Amino acid sequence: MHNNPKEHTVTLIIGSSGQLGSELASTLLKERPDKILICCDLHQGPAPDGAIFETLDVLDQSKLEDMIRRHGVQEIYHLAAMLSAKGEQNPAMAWRLNMEGLLNVLELSVKYGVGRVFWPSSIAAFGPGTPRDLVPQWPVMDPRTVYGISKLSGELWCQYYVQRFGLDVRSLRYPGIISWRTPPGGGTTDYAVEIFHEALRCGAYTSFLQAHTRLPMMYIDDAVRATLELMQADGERLSVRTSYNITAMSFTPLELAEAIQRRLPHFQIDYRVDFRQAIADTWPAVIDDQVARDDWGWNHHFDLSALVDEMLTNLAAIRERQR
Ligand code: SER
Repeated sequence: MHNNPKEHTVTLIIGSSGQLGSELASTLLKERPDKILICCDLHQGPAPDGAIFETLDVLDQSKLEDMIRRHGVQEIYHLAAMLSAKGEQNPAMAWRLNMEGLLNVLELSVKYGVGRVFWPSSIAAFGPGTPRDLVPQWPVMDPRTVYGISKLSGELWCQYYVQRFGLDVRSLRYPGIISWRTPPGGGTTDYAVEIFHEALRCGAYTSFLQAHTRLPMMYIDDAVRATLELMQADGERLSVRTSYNITAMSFTPLELAEAIQRRLPHFQIDYRVDFRQAIADTWPAVIDDQVARDDWGWNHHFDLSALVDEMLTNLAAIRERQR
């Protein structure tokens, strides 16, 4: 156990090397110096200075228990998961990682009195029975991927732990998250990150989704801020204990390509659709996140134009440094 003056919250990020975990870790260290931050993942990623890193497979319940006990963990962000496209290649493993991982975290959080837990759900929890446009907070949910099934089930488990054990679990249904520091791994929305790398590398991109496939998306800074704001919100105000709809924008591959062309006029896109199209076809195009806006003041900062500027500027700067 750390020599922890009472005002320091001990925070554990599980999945800290991933797209969201790595950015959440650096933001927490920058903005909340009152936290002791423990980062864990299967492999060490770019863990920021000032965080403690330990390797962990979240399926290893006894190692996770030892970490929570040894560090006196008070708050957990559990982000380790297998995403939609990768999950379809290995459904049994995706189910095991996504469900057993979550149940391990929930069970140990109750056992050790962890004060607050964050767990991400996704637009993948929706399905063909969900309205495609302006999905309300409580629609029909009939996910068709194993990832989506694990997210819908996980949402219900989170709510169950809130109601049955009083555990303070909070969750967001993330749209596709777009970032430049750490790549996403194995999702259907990954095209919207790859396209920027390829635009700068060779001026062309072959999309695995059709030109007109509209999906909800969000820039990483908004996703991190949403997560931290939800975790700080007054619990009394939270009317949703499954998972909140949140969104920032919706666009198609063609619209994204056109936005890139406005900055890089020679950029070209073409299309070679693969199995990920069938996944995207079951997801909604536009999300209604009014409940999150009303309950805890959610508001996005980045629209499509700001997103494209951020991505191109930051990735171009990295390329320049690597020369
Ligand atoms: N970005 C995720 C995926 O594509 C959706 O949650 O799988």
